[in-house]
Amino acid sequence: MKNFLKLSLIAFITLFISCSSDDDYVPVAVEYPVPEFMAKLSELKLFEGDLANLEPTEHVNIYELNTSLFTDYAQKLRFLSIPEGAKMIYNGGGLPIYPDGTIMTKTFYYYNVDNNPSQGKQIIETRVLILKSGVWNIGNYVWNDEQTEAFLDDASYTKSITWTDSQGIETTFDYVIPSYTSCVDCHQNDGVRIPIGPMARNMNVTINGVNQLQEFIDNGILAEAPSVSDIVKLPVWDDLSFSLEERARAYLDVNCAHCHQPGGFFDLNFFSNFELRYETPFEEANIYSKRNVIISRINSDIEGYKMPFIGTSLFHAEGILLLEEYLESL
Ligand code: HEC
Ligand code: HEC
Repeated sequence: MKNFLKLSLIAFITLFISCSSDDDYVPVAVEYPVPEFMAKLSELKLFEGDLANLEPTEHVNIYELNTSLFTDYAQKLRFLSIPEGAKMIYNGGGLPIYPDGTIMTKTFYYYNVDNNPSQGKQIIETRVLILKSGVWNIGNYVWNDEQTEAFLDDASYTKSITWTDSQGIETTFDYVIPSYTSCVDCHQNDGVRIPIGPMARNMNVTINGVNQLQEFIDNGILAEAPSVSDIVKLPVWDDLSFSLEERARAYLDVNCAHCHQPGGFFDLNFFSNFELRYETPFEEANIYSKRNVIISRINSDIEGYKMPFIGTSLFHAEGILLLEEYLESL
């Protein structure tokens, strides 16, 4: 008992000293992320603490998109890391000019129970783009079952996933981790590998009352941008304050246009004038003449016919509903 009291007293004094010595506290500088495809995800130094907590370090920005790609209802966490002292340069509503050493990542995971993150999650993969000497390099890190590390891997894997959605419905399905070739099918235009999401128009989103682009400007990582109110904004596909057409076109842009635009996978291989970028005028996009085949393909699960061509195993019921409503209104 005596010893216990003694120990408690020592613990108390230690606590007291460490609390009162704040003035002498010298912060250890957090390293900037490493813009290289190291063998292990932890070696990129994007995360703080346990990898599985998915906490970015202070040099990494979490970003969100107005409208994002549907991937089998997976949760996605997106990171943007701009190297020390560098900035992205505003370049209209499209992709800013990113500095060498920029890292973008997208981590895919499922909560075991969507409404209850405290019941755990399964992290599957962290997809990475790194800009090096003006070239975007692509790599994928596949997480181990222990969720302690992810390893650089070019291969495709199938992983059985079970999760309960917000309606309480449990689904089990085979999630497909794409191969390197699949990454390139979507992320390449006219033979040049590119990012897709982080365009100014799709990052022009207000989160907790703060505009994301404004935050980048204030943090000194986005330069030469006009007033944020003058920057175009991609509509939010599931926000009913946008019109049906705006929501459907934004959905087609993010989920389909990387292949269906000049220089995209479909365009290069099939020579058809069918293109789905948000800015393309309706008549030029040829959406009207293709409306029936669009509906048929988004409802198909036949490989080679279904749309999107690759990247999903489950139907996106809400997305299909939106596109059908729009196409049938034409
Ligand atoms: C079916 C098409 C498709 C495939 C396959 C695909 N991506 Fe993407 N990827 C996208 C789209 C669209 C976005 C942007 C929208 C979003 O983030 O939701 C994106 C976003 C990303 C991002 C965030 C930066 C950016 O470009 O927006 C990274 C990093 C990334 N993908 C890497 C990969 C890697 C690595 C692979 C292969 C393992 C891969 N992607 C496979 C379509 C695809
Ligand atoms: C990874 C690239 C890719 C993505 C993403 C993609 N497509 Fe396609 N799309 C293709 C290819 C390749 C074909 C031709 C397939 C074939 O041989 O039938 C095609 C064909 C089509 C056709 C038939 C065109 C015609 O001229 O008859 C339609 C319609 C279509 N896609 C709609 C969509 C829609 C809608 C989406 C998004 C929900 C989408 N695609 C996403 C690659 C893609």
